Amino acid sequence: MSGSIEVRGLSRAFRSTVRRPGFAGALRSLIDPERVTKYAVSDITFDVAPGELLALLGPNGAGKSTTIKILTGILTPTAGEARVAGVVPYQERERNARNIGAVFGQRTQLWWDLPVRESFAILRDIYEVPRAEHAARLREFDDLLELSAFWDTRVRHLSLGQRVRCDLAAALLHDPPVVFLDEPTIGMDVVVKEQVREFLRHQVEQRGRTVLLTTHDMTEVERLAERVVLVNHGRLVLDGTLDEIRRTYGSTWQVRVTLADAHAAVVPLPGIALLGRDGPRAVFGPDGSGAPTVHQALKAVIERYEVTDVAIDEADLEDVMRAAYVHAGPAVEEA
Ligand SMILES: Nc1ncnc2c1ncn2[C@@H]1O[C@H](COP(=O)(O)OP(=O)(O)OP(=O)(O)O)[C@@H](O)[C@H]1O
Ligand SMILES: [Mg+2]
Repeated sequence: MSGSIEVRGLSRAFRSTVRRPGFAGALRSLIDPERVTKYAVSDITFDVAPGELLALLGPNGAGKSTTIKILTGILTPTAGEARVAGVVPYQERERNARNIGAVFGQRTQLWWDLPVRESFAILRDIYEVPRAEHAARLREFDDLLELSAFWDTRVRHLSLGQRVRCDLAAALLHDPPVVFLDEPTIGMDVVVKEQVREFLRHQVEQRGRTVLLTTHDMTEVERLAERVVLVNHGRLVLDGTLDEIRRTYGSTWQVRVTLADAHAAVVPLPGIALLGRDGPRAVFGPDGSGAPTVHQALKAVIERYEVTDVAIDEADLEDVMRAAYVHAGPAVEEA
């Protein structure tokens, strides 16, 4: 399975008509429409390595779904190029479809009026999956996602969380190397969310699938992704590992320890300042010189001192991402 994703200078413009205000304006717009071009995606470049899970993040309207639609062959870019497992998705839609699975949390790709299991059977025939293989895969998905409780139900009667789990299984039944997930855990309760994350981890770590995921749930990003790409106003503003992003934008952690020896001498460590000391209790924080991450600091502190208790505080990922958007600056909108 070699499922790399390559995106080079990708742009997608939409032409739309501006409505002029008032009745006279509406009339004029009909006769002489004023058209504007808006870039939903603008000159985006990134790669996803085979077997990697990348989170594509950004505020509403940033261009995430548009990017995924290009990579799944639904939309054609205005400029730039994309390759998924070596295939240009919008030029060879069918070939691309065999290499990818896609889930759009907002809408199902199952047949609304059919029981889920019949949808699975149709997909088996479309993708020409041998029956035994199909049955084995369904068993595996049932073990991980507990589908059999409701897979004889018509799709239209499923709850949102049940339906998206079925969509996930449907997307993977033909064993594609690359998977696109646009808000796959939308509307799920915490237990099911964790189940789905476990399932996705399994797909990446055990099956070697490449996953490109969008979500607004930062807990999900922390649990699943090592690397993230941030987009804002259609432009890529950041591409890096969570550790790198935390180091750059979220250096507000503290490590609090209780020392075994209340009289031990405590000195600052590289990149780590001693913020406070009260008997056996000591508080460490970043010293502003390109600080280590909270986990690196914790490791350095407990290697250096004998401690009986530790606690850490760190900026949560939402704060870090907000800081990243602000620092990267609002992109200029093109007209
Ligand atoms: N068919 C279309 N015609 C015109 N504009 C569009 C079309 N599709 C998307 N857009 C615009 O492109 C921009 C990016 O939309 P997109 O759906 O990619 O955002 P998103 O990052 O997925 O947002 P969300 O987090 O809300 O799902 C938005 O401003 C949207 O209004
Ligand atoms: Mg979207």
